[in-house]
This record gives sequence, C-alpha cells and structure tokens, in this order.
Amino acid sequence: MNTQNETEKKPRPTRVFSGVQPTANIHLGNYLGAIKRFVSVQHEMESLFCVVDLHAITVPQDPKMLKAQTREVAAAYLAAGIDPKKSIIFVQSNVSAHAELAWVLNCVARMGWLERMTQFKDKAGENSERMSVGLFDYPVLMAADILAYKATHVPVGDDQKQHLELARDIAQRFNTDFKAKGFFPSPEPLIGGPASRVMNLQDGTKKMSKSDPADLSRINLTDDTDTIVRKFKKARTDQFPMPESVDELKSRPEVDNLVGIYAAMAETTKESVVAQFAGQGFGAFKPALADLAVEKLAPITEHMRRLMSDATEIDAILKVGAERANSIAQPILKQVKEIVGFFN
Ligand code: TYM
Repeated sequence: MNTQNETEKKPRPTRVFSGVQPTANIHLGNYLGAIKRFVSVQHEMESLFCVVDLHAITVPQDPKMLKAQTREVAAAYLAAGIDPKKSIIFVQSNVSAHAELAWVLNCVARMGWLERMTQFKDKAGENSERMSVGLFDYPVLMAADILAYKATHVPVGDDQKQHLELARDIAQRFNTDFKAKGFFPSPEPLIGGPASRVMNLQDGTKKMSKSDPADLSRINLTDDTDTIVRKFKKARTDQFPMPESVDELKSRPEVDNLVGIYAAMAETTKESVVAQFAGQGFGAFKPALADLAVEKLAPITEHMRRLMSDATEIDAILKVGAERANSIAQPILKQVKEIVGFFN
C-alpha cells in the first residue's frame, strides 16, 4: 500500500520547452544563449523545441520568407545536435493548443503585468500606439507555449527572464482563480553560463540581435568562414591589452563580450580565458577567437546548408514533431476547458 510519505517522495515529472522565432538572421547569441543548451538538456529531460512562427508575426513578415526561415530554424536545431528521435521538434502554428490556451490565459493575465514588460517597451519605443496587439500580448502566448505541455524547465537567454517570471505568475493565477491547485507547474528558467547575453560586436552595451541593420554587429549561423573571421577582426575592442582579471571586464563591455563568447565556445569559464590571454594584445586574442568560432560553427553551418538544400527531411521531421506535440498538448487543453467550464 502507498503511504502518503511514499507518494510525496515521488519526483514530479519534468519536461523542457523552448522556442526560437523564425525571423531572419539566426545568430551566435541564439546559439550560445539557447540552442547549445537545448542540445545538452535533451539528454536529461523530455524536451520540446518549437519554431515559434505565431510569435514571429507580431511584427510584419514576408509570407514567403517566413516559410524559409521556419525551415532555417529547424535546420539550426538539427545541425546543432538536437536529435529528432529523442526531442520533439515542431512548428508552433501546427499545434492549435498554443493559440487556444493563449486566449484562456489572456483572460487570466492582467494589463498591468504586461505593461511592465521591458522587451515590449524596448521594441515599441515611442511607437507603442502603432504596434500590433500581438506584440503587446507576446509574453502571454509564451506562457501558453510552456503551459500547454506543463513544461517545468525552460532554457533561454537572459533577455527572456522577465517573460518567464510572467509565465510563472500566470500559471499561479490560473491555479488560484480556478481553484485548480498544482494544475500548472511553475516553470523554472534555465539561464546561465558565460554567454547568456551575447552583445553586439560593434557596441558592447547592446544585445546581439536579429533585427540590427548592421550585419557586422552579429555572427549569423549562415555566415561562411571568411565572414566569421572578418567580423571578429572588426569587432570593437579598446586600446588596452587583454585584462589580467575578470573584475577588469566590468568596465570593458566589448572585451567582456568576446571573452564570454570564447568561454562559452571552449566550454570553460571567463576566469580561465582571462588567465590564458592575460596581458596579450588583441592581435593574439582575436585570431584565436575566430579560429575557435570557425571550428565550432563551420560544421553546423555546413550541416544547415545541406538540410536546407532539400527540405524533404526537415518537413518530415516537423510533421512527426507536430503530431507528437499535439498528443501531449491536447489532453492538457481538454482539462483546461473542463476547469474553465467550457461546454463540450
Ligand atoms: P528569439 O527568437 O528572439 O530568441 C531565441 C533564443 O535566443 C536567446 N537569445 C540570446 N541569448 C544570448 N544572447 C543574445 N544576444 C540573445 N538573443 C536571443 C533568447 O533568449 C531565446 O532563448 N520569446 C522567445 C521565443 C519563445 C520562447 C517561448 C522561449 C517563444 N515562446 C517559450 C521559451 C519558451 C525569444 O526570445 O525568441
């Protein structure tokens, strides 16, 4: 017979969910801050990795490009090492539970919560009146993505921390409002490591971003070897030699960023990179960084190119992924509908 103690000891099931938008220019920040982490976490927990096209259309997209970019993100997942037999790789708009649950959660989330979201303020700037309602509502759809699978862990870059906190608030509020204690778990963010916020190569105070008009500001996952080398060569630094301690990095944002990128790619710490290059000039560090980046990225880029030259394999994987994702999300959505009191 199961005693209460034994039941309590049973570990809660774990599940990973994360996503990348199919907007142009998937870059090194997406890889080091998120995708590289997806590859390792898939061996620890059941994992779903989504191409979040519903999120992409919160700003205007060219429909033809959107389809190609959706395949490009899927190709990046596969080329980086996500195993489609192990993990579920799929496209968000192929699983209707995301949009359906987002509506329910829209009625749980509060305007004031969304008004505090800094990413919306940054993206909208002075033009918030002219932004789509979807862009404002973006974090609620994110919460729906995660909660549609009752995911417990969410690997993301540092910029998504606030959205994850909101997802936790929404989950708790749903459980309280509908007296459904413990129904949705509080998803844990998995953020960390030396490249959880990769910065712009030309301005160490700005995040590396897909939408920056300056191509030199980022390393795209589709860049060839020469381009990678050239971009690191042109990356902004300062007139001082490489730092002697990590403390020094605090006042040298561009150098801090390059050291973080090196550390993440070499799978080591900033401390050890600083120790290795202390006092040397950038004439030594930058080529070493470019070589390391080429060594790590060239096989991924090459594999992505092969996958994208014939979409058959990607499309087949995404189709199976959507079926698997749907089979997890549908029963959860059904329970949500019952809890809310929808007629069926
Ligand atoms: P997206 O496509 O903007 O970014 C995808 C992932 O890359 C991370 N990232 C970075 N990490 C380090 N340095 C950077 N410069 C950098 N830029 C981007 C992001 O943190 C993200 O992890 N809203 C999400 C997509 C999403 C999602 C979700 C994530 C939609 N639904 C549910 C987790 C769970 C986003 O930022 O996409």
